[in-house]
Amino acid sequence: MCHNIVYHRVIAVVMVMILGAVSAATVTYAAGGANGEALHKAHCQDCHASRFKDASSIYTRPERQVKSVDQLRARVEFCSQQVNAQWFDDEVNAVTTWLNHQFYKF
Ligand code: HEC
Repeated sequence: MCHNIVYHRVIAVVMVMILGAVSAATVTYAAGGANGEALHKAHCQDCHASRFKDASSIYTRPERQVKSVDQLRARVEFCSQQVNAQWFDDEVNAVTTWLNHQFYKF
């Protein structure tokens, strides 16, 4: 009897580990389809909008600083670190691609 209970606990622990591994895999998969627009909205937009006339004029103003895709990616990476967003490379790439497509058009 006693042994049976221990055995069931082991099974339960193993089940929890398997479920944990499955959800970790799901998170990685979701990051693979990172949505640049949503990430930007969640982490970046409000601050830009509060300092400029709206959320997009920081990217379209005549004196904007970013002059190439490489600079844009570097800036996105730097800013994401500043706000401690902890983005993976593909999230940085997704936001860079979205900003370029939407505003910079390099
Ligand atoms: C706390 C405020 C704040 C947050 C949060 C913020 N930014 Fe910025 N960002 C600024 C300011 C202010 C500037 C303009 C700096 C200047 O003009 O010298 C800027 C400039 C930029 C530029 C360059 C614009 C140009 O001139 O071409 C990019 C790209 C950018 N931010 C991306 C991001 C991204 C991506 C995030 C989110 C990860 C982010 N920022 C979060 C304040 C912020």
